[in-house]
Amino acid sequence: MNIADYQTRIENVLADALPPEHSGSLAAAMRYSALNGGKRLRAALIYAAAEDNGIDLAAVDAAAAAIECIHAYSLIHDDLPAMDDDDLRRGKASCHIAFGEAEAILAGDALNTLAFELLGNSPLSADIRLQHIRLLSQAAGWAGMVGGQSLDIALTGKKTDLAQLQTIHCGKTGALIQAAILMGASPGETFAQQEKHLAAVGKLLGIAYQIHDDILDATADSRQLGKTAGKDAAQEKNTYVQLLGLDRSRALLEESHAQIQTELDQLPHKQALSALIQHIFSRTY
Ligand code: IPE
Ligand code: IPE
Ligand code: MG
Ligand code: MG
Ligand code: MG
Repeated sequence: MNIADYQTRIENVLADALPPEHSGSLAAAMRYSALNGGKRLRAALIYAAAEDNGIDLAAVDAAAAAIECIHAYSLIHDDLPAMDDDDLRRGKASCHIAFGEAEAILAGDALNTLAFELLGNSPLSADIRLQHIRLLSQAAGWAGMVGGQSLDIALTGKKTDLAQLQTIHCGKTGALIQAAILMGASPGETFAQQEKHLAAVGKLLGIAYQIHDDILDATADSRQLGKTAGKDAAQEKNTYVQLLGLDRSRALLEESHAQIQTELDQLPHKQALSALIQHIFSRTY
């Protein structure tokens, strides 16, 4: 399967997993923010890792929907006035602009809990369901995405060094991307032998993904991105572009891609994941 197939699949799975249409404004805010427009790369990473390991994609649909719910919630909260204060998301008004701040906060909260409801109800064995809940809760929580967001906010406008910036990126973006790869592969019989390399691929890809996001913020326009370009510099965010400049940030991205390839080479089956990662590095929005 290619990325477009994964995207079609997750759009359908998510539409079914979310509260039905016409069931009130909270449900509408959840559907508004979780459906349409996302690149679905985290879901695609789950599907690609599953495919490489001979796992039926239907077995990881719940995991794919869950990670996209967590991601959508993180974006709703990231755009709030108390955080990045961004009016545009995925080419539309941000959730708090369309539904008001209180409903946006609650839609984020409800997407967060829905993710774990989906994992609890997935058709996988109880052991794997528990493993998925552990992986996603750790990646989304205080030591992962939320922790990274907290550091990002605390250090905005303050001077940071590369090590601290890497900690922010690893948390706010890297953790979920790493969890996606691990969740996709974890139902496979040979997961234990591959886990170390998959975790390394996920960590490198996660940091690279946010470096790329920093580069695009500085170089692309809002129409292309579907979110407000140039905001990092305007808000004095700590980014790789701000700390190292564009050329060194781009060089670092290339370097990460090569390091990922080296880790992928250690895996017996990596065709789908390699192709998807190639696609991710070539993104322009
Ligand atoms: C945006 O993520 C926020 C970051 C973590 C960099 P994506 O670039 O994956 O956004 P969507 O899901 O495609 O909108
Ligand atoms: C967002 O980083 C990371 C999360 C939402 C967890 P950014 O603040 O750079 O994301 P964008 O650029 O608004 O999508
Ligand atoms: Mg942010
Ligand atoms: Mg933001
Ligand atoms: Mg950004």
